[in-house]
Formats: sequence, structure tokens, C-alpha cells
Amino acid sequence: MTFEVGRVRALYPALADGYAYLDGAAGTQVPQAVVDAIAGAYRQGIGNVGGAFPASRRSGGIVAECRRAVADLVGGDPDGVVLGPSMTALTYRLAAALSAGWGEGDEVVISRLDHDANVRPWLQAAARRGMTVRWAEPDLATGELPAGQYDALLSPRTRLVAVTAASNVLGTRPEVAAIAARAHAAGALTYVDAVHAAAHGPVDAAALGADLFATSAYKWSGPHVAAVVADPALLARLRPDKLEPSPDRVPERFERGTLPFADFAGVVAAVEHLATLDPDATGTRRERLLASMAAAEAHEQELFAVLSGGLETMGHVTSYGKAASRTATAYFNVAGRTPRAVAAHLAARKVNAWNGHNYAWELTGALGIRDAGGAVRAGLVHYNDRSDVDRLLEGVAELGG
Ligand SMILES: Cc1ncc(COP(=O)(O)O)c(C=O)c1O
Repeated sequence: MTFEVGRVRALYPALADGYAYLDGAAGTQVPQAVVDAIAGAYRQGIGNVGGAFPASRRSGGIVAECRRAVADLVGGDPDGVVLGPSMTALTYRLAAALSAGWGEGDEVVISRLDHDANVRPWLQAAARRGMTVRWAEPDLATGELPAGQYDALLSPRTRLVAVTAASNVLGTRPEVAAIAARAHAAGALTYVDAVHAAAHGPVDAAALGADLFATSAYKWSGPHVAAVVADPALLARLRPDKLEPSPDRVPERFERGTLPFADFAGVVAAVEHLATLDPDATGTRRERLLASMAAAEAHEQELFAVLSGGLETMGHVTSYGKAASRTATAYFNVAGRTPRAVAAHLAARKVNAWNGHNYAWELTGALGIRDAGGAVRAGLVHYNDRSDVDRLLEGVAELGG
């Protein structure tokens, strides 16, 4: 397994501005190859799909390639890759289509660890249908989401379990496979939010037991588009609202209006890029992705040990979350400073870090920090290096005493 962070960083033009980009959990930078792919699509000429001329066929080809690339990244079927503008938009779309078949007395199980995009669409759909909502609770001291609690939350009336594959603030990676096994035994579907998880290591939608698996390309070096991946047979059972003349095929049935074809060329380039993070990886693109993302994860975790260990030694810092399995994502507060003031202090030292609830609305409410501005999030992705971590730690240390 090989990972050379210097080589990787040189592929990202934005990283040359001297900032430590620790804001990857809110969106990553893109490598030059992604910029080139998007510009190249426009330069070459693209048309709307379905026409009799080459520019139109090029767009159709890009869409097909994009589905294959996303399927390779997550271990899915290209025919079950629904593309759209964001995970939030797609989740609302799927919630509307799924809940059309649900009724009064049916149940959904959602988790208080989740980003609001995997909470509110289900809560609102459930309210419209007169359904019962059951909450899975994280252990606030550790950030874990114990899988055992699902035994008591599920019933024969459970229609769907929505759960994150990784918390976007605490980094917690719940035991999704164990949760999904329980959901399936109860006859429920699973909707897995992998927006944060997919950026930080190998992912396998089938192994996780995800019936519907959501990911956003802008979290893993791609442009601002997203996908929900499912078994085409499941999608074929759903009838989303759509225009009369638009395709009724799966997955097109779920995709509204004209799609951002050039951005999809960027998604393909991003997946190709991720597959080369371990330059020694061989085999199919899926195999190279698994090896490369494992190498990237090892790199992130090595740096994260320094980052989280450094914060732990600082008496003026309170860190949230210490799950056994977590992404390289730190969420912390500094005594006597608002999260915004800490982020501003760091920004003045050329460190990009987020402050706030980061849409982990229920979780930060339960932690009792939401109304006071949440906390500071510093997250690592594959292109971060030791100097990024050192600069963050020096900046936070300056705020002590
Ligand atoms: C874990 C998680 N889920 C969902 C979302 C929402 O994704 P999108 O911006 O594509 O709607 C985010 C965005 O930050 C996220 O981190």
C-alpha cells in the first residue's frame, strides 16, 4: 500500500494558496483533472441528451460513464445510480416517492446522530402520512450509535430506517451492517447517508446493507452533484412525480430536468483520481478504488492520531466524540471563546476550519452546544499533510492560558 501525500497535493491547484484546508468535510478542493474534464466537455461541445447529433450523443455517453464511475466507487449497479444536484434534494425526492406507499400507523426510524438531510425529509414525510417516528439515540459521551437499541425501535410496521454511515461532525461510523440486518429482519428498507463516509475510506453499499445509499461528489474531490444508489428493481417499484414527456425508465425517472452534463464529466475524473491515490493499486477500477481509499484512510488516520492527540493535551479544549470507529474529523470547543472566534483566529493563521452545528442539528441540540454556536470542526481528507495539522494545533494552542 503506497500513499505519497506530496504527489497528491501537487495535483490540486487550489492547495497552492498556502492555506491549510481542514474544511474538507464541508467540501473538498478538486484536482486539475476534474477542472480539465469539466472544461473539456464544454470545449468539445455537449448537447442535450436524446438528439441525433454527436454533441448530444457525447452528453449521453458522459451520463452513462458517470453512473458507472459512481457505481464503482460505492459498489453498486450503474442502472441504479440516480444523479441529482445534492444529497438533500435527492433525499427529499426519494422520501416523497417512498412515502407515497406509506400510511397512518406505519413507522420510520431515524437517528439523532445524523445530518439533518437524513432526518428532516423523513420527519416531514412521516408527519404528512400520520406515521410514527422512532429515534435512535447516540451515546453523547462517546458519540457511538449503539446498534442494539434498534431491536426495540423496529416493528412489523417499520417502513424505513435512515442512518448515517459516518457523522459529519463526530466522525462516528455506526455499525450500519448490524443496523441494516435488524431493519431487514423487520421488513424495513434502509436509507444510508454516506455523504461523509465515502470521502474517508472504501465503501460498499451492499456490504452495509444499504437499500438506498447517498453520496455527494463534492465531498470526494468532485463537483457539486450527488447520487443515490439503489437496486434498479427497488427504484422500478417507485413512482416519483415527473413530467409527462420525461423518460419513465429507471433511473432517469427520478432525475428532473436537464442535467449538469459537464459536471458529470468531472465526477468521472474525480473517481479516476481517487482510484490512483495508491499508485501501486492494480486490477479493475473498483479494485483500485478499494485499495486507494484504504491507503487514503490509513494516511488520514495516522495524521488524525497527531491531531486528536494534540488537542487532548490542551486543557482549554473540549473535544466531542471518541467512537471506536471514526473518520479523521475533530469537533471541539475552546474555553472562553465562541466557535466563530476560534475559526476566525485560525483563518488569520491560514487555517480553514468550520464553526457551527454543521447541520448536525439534532446532535448538537442534544449535546447542548447548538444555541451557543456549535463547535469548531477540523477534518482531514487525503490531501492534508502534517504541516496542516501542526498549523491547526499551534493556532489552537495560542488560545490557551
Ligand atoms: C453527512 C452529510 N449528509 C448530508 C449532507 C448534505 O449533502 P448535500 O450538500 O449534497 O445536500 C452533508 C453535507 O454536508 C453531510 O455532511
